[in-house]
Amino acid sequence: MLTLTDIRKAYGRKTVLDGITQTFPVGLTLLVGPSGAGKSTLLRLLATAEKPNAGTISWAGAVLPGARRALRRTLGYAPQAVDLPDDLTAREFAQHMASLKGLDAAAADAQFGAITDAIGLHADINNRISTFSGGMRRRLIFAQAMLGTPQLIALDEPTAELDGETARKLSALILERAQDAVVVMTTHLADELAPHAAQVLRVENGKVRAA
Ligand SMILES: Nc1ncnc2c1ncn2[C@@H]1O[C@H](COP(=O)(O)OP(=O)(O)OP(=O)(O)O)[C@@H](O)[C@H]1O
Ligand SMILES: [Mg+2]
Repeated sequence: MLTLTDIRKAYGRKTVLDGITQTFPVGLTLLVGPSGAGKSTLLRLLATAEKPNAGTISWAGAVLPGARRALRRTLGYAPQAVDLPDDLTAREFAQHMASLKGLDAAAADAQFGAITDAIGLHADINNRISTFSGGMRRRLIFAQAMLGTPQLIALDEPTAELDGETARKLSALILERAQDAVVVMTTHLADELAPHAAQVLRVENGKVRAA
């Protein structure tokens, strides 16, 4: 379980998250709310890509920053926007991410093959990322997040730019992993996933509340 206590995050004078206390249990948590509300900001905090101005985050009962290494070791994070290394093939990128995560190279390569197969990207994994469409990039970012079977998964619009059928394939994988991992995601498909979610949270005006 992941817990936020009295989290505040501001950029300059603009307070984006204003005293958030919230637990994220094993299962799927959907984040909804208007554009600019702070959903991605919240995911960046969960993923330790940014630090809060105040408040504490704890993972598996231990408080950050002490628990940051333990959290990162089992984190899968798919940011909303990321610059991918265009010169690499998808598979090379996955191998690079796997080594950063300290995963066994052969096992990660096999897992990457299985994930990309399940989401219709497998035929392209030996092609350079420079040749990838927006939807292919989205799927690659998703696939690297799932490497190593993380226990904490933060997904920021993983189904954006995907056709309905492909989005459903991703959703199926996400729900499967949410059976034993803490999964927090934003998606425009919240209505479809809500019946399967442990909780749906609305981010608005600096606060988070049950939707
Ligand atoms: N690095 C930053 N510097 C300054 N302001 C930022 C930064 N990142 C986010 N913000 C501001 O914080 C607010 C929340 O942004 P965030 O990206 O978290 O919203 P969001 O809910 O994810 O929106 P969307 O649905 O459009 O993705 C916005 O007002 C944004 O301008
Ligand atoms: Mg966002």
